[in-house]
Amino acid sequence: MDFKRSDFPKDFLFGAATAAYQIEGHQFGGAGPTHWDTFAAGPGNVVRGEDGAVACDHYHRFADDLDLLKDAGMDAYRFSTSWARVMPDGRTPNPEGLDFYDRLVDAMLERGLKPFQTLYHWELPAALADKGGWMNRDTCNYFGDFADVITDRIGDRVNAIATINEPWCISYLSHFLGHHAPGLRDIRATARAMHHINLAHGIGMSRLRAKGMTNCGIVINFDHTAPKDNAPESVAATRTWDAIMNRWFIEATTRGTYPLEALTGLDPHMPRGWEDDMPEISQPIDFLGVNYYTRHKVTADDTSVWPHVATEEGPGDKTQMGWEIYPDGLQSFLTRLSRDYIGDMPIYVTENGMAWDDHVENDAVNDPERTKFISDHIIATKQAIADGANVKGFFYWSLLDNYEWAFGYEKRFGMIHVDFETLKRTPKASYHALKSAIAQ
Ligand code: FCB
Repeated sequence: MDFKRSDFPKDFLFGAATAAYQIEGHQFGGAGPTHWDTFAAGPGNVVRGEDGAVACDHYHRFADDLDLLKDAGMDAYRFSTSWARVMPDGRTPNPEGLDFYDRLVDAMLERGLKPFQTLYHWELPAALADKGGWMNRDTCNYFGDFADVITDRIGDRVNAIATINEPWCISYLSHFLGHHAPGLRDIRATARAMHHINLAHGIGMSRLRAKGMTNCGIVINFDHTAPKDNAPESVAATRTWDAIMNRWFIEATTRGTYPLEALTGLDPHMPRGWEDDMPEISQPIDFLGVNYYTRHKVTADDTSVWPHVATEEGPGDKTQMGWEIYPDGLQSFLTRLSRDYIGDMPIYVTENGMAWDDHVENDAVNDPERTKFISDHIIATKQAIADGANVKGFFYWSLLDNYEWAFGYEKRFGMIHVDFETLKRTPKASYHALKSAIAQ
C-alpha cells in the first residue's frame, strides 16, 4: 500500500465493517425471521434464493474472526446488532440474543478493538414487516424501544453508535427500485419510507440521549454523480439525482429540510404532518458515517416515470459488482460534506471496499486489485484531511466475504476469504498488505 499509519493523525482509527444478517447466521440463538428471509424466498429476488440462515456462522466463530481483526493491527470494529436477534418479533426481548452481543462486545474489548455499533443494518423483524415495515410510522417508535433494550445491555461498553445504516438503500432502493427487501416499486411506499427512516433516526437519537449516550450518529451512503454530457437536461437530471441519492438524508438530519428537487416528486405521497417531525430528525449528532463505493453518470429520461433520470456507471475500471472504481469521489464527498453540512464534526469512512472474483490457491488469495483499491481510497481520505475534513477513521467493507444481499454469496468483498461450504477463513493478500501499512 502507498501509505502508512504515520501519515495520519495519531487518533485516526483503522478498522473493518460487517453487518449482522450478512455474517452471523440467523438460524442460531433464537433470532426471529427478518424481511430478508421473506424477500430471499420470493422468486428471482436473490441469486439462487440464498439467505442469511448460516452466512459465515460468525455467531459461533466470532472469537476467531475478532482474532483476525486484532492480528491485522486494527483499532476498531464496525458491527450491527440485529433487531430480529434482540427482539425476534420486533417487540419482545430475547435473552439469548442480548447475551450474544454482550459476549461479542466483551470479546472486542479483550482484544483492544473499539466497538462501533450500528443499530439498524437492515435486520427488520418479519413481524414488523407484516405491519407495513418502514411504511408504518409505528415502526419508528418500535425502533426506539429496540434502541433502549440493546443500549441497556451494551451501551456502557461501545465507543460509537450509529442509528441507521444507509437510509437511501432502506427506502428508495427497496421501495421504489425494488432491488432490496421488501422489493416494492411503489412511490407512496417510497415517500413514507424515506421520511420514516429519518424519523426512526431522530427517535433513536432521542432515546440514546435520554440514556446519556455520547458519540451517536448516522451512516449515510453517497454516490458520486456527474452529468454524462453538457446538455442542460443532463445537468438538471444530475441535480435531481444528487438530491435523491445524496442530499435527502444529510439535509434532513443536519438542517431539518428536504431538497426541493426531490420533494417535488415525493410531496404528494408524503405522510401527513411530516414537517412536524423535522426538529426531532435534525437534532445534533456527534459524528457522520460515510459509505462510499462508486460514481454514476446521469442523463435525463423523459420516457420514464419521475424522477425522469437515467444513470449508468462511469467509464473507469469496474469491480466484480460492475461498479466503477473512482477514489476521487471519496475525497470529494468528505470535503463537500464538511464544507456544506457538518463543519468540524468528526466523519468516519464507515464503508468502502470492492468485490472481486477471488479464489484460494495454495492456501492464499492473491488480490492485487483490492490492495490498490484500498490504498487509493485511503490516500483519497488523507487528501480530504489535508483539505480540512475532520476524518477520524476508515473502515474497510468488509472483514469477511459474506451475504451480499440480492447477490447472495456470489460477490466477495472481504479482506478475508470465506469458503461457504467449509466456512474456512483465509486472509487475502490485501489483508496482509493493510496489516503491514498500518503497522508502520
Ligand atoms: C452497502 C451495505 C453493505 C454492503 C455493501 C457492499 O450498501 O451497507 O451491507 O452490502 O454495500
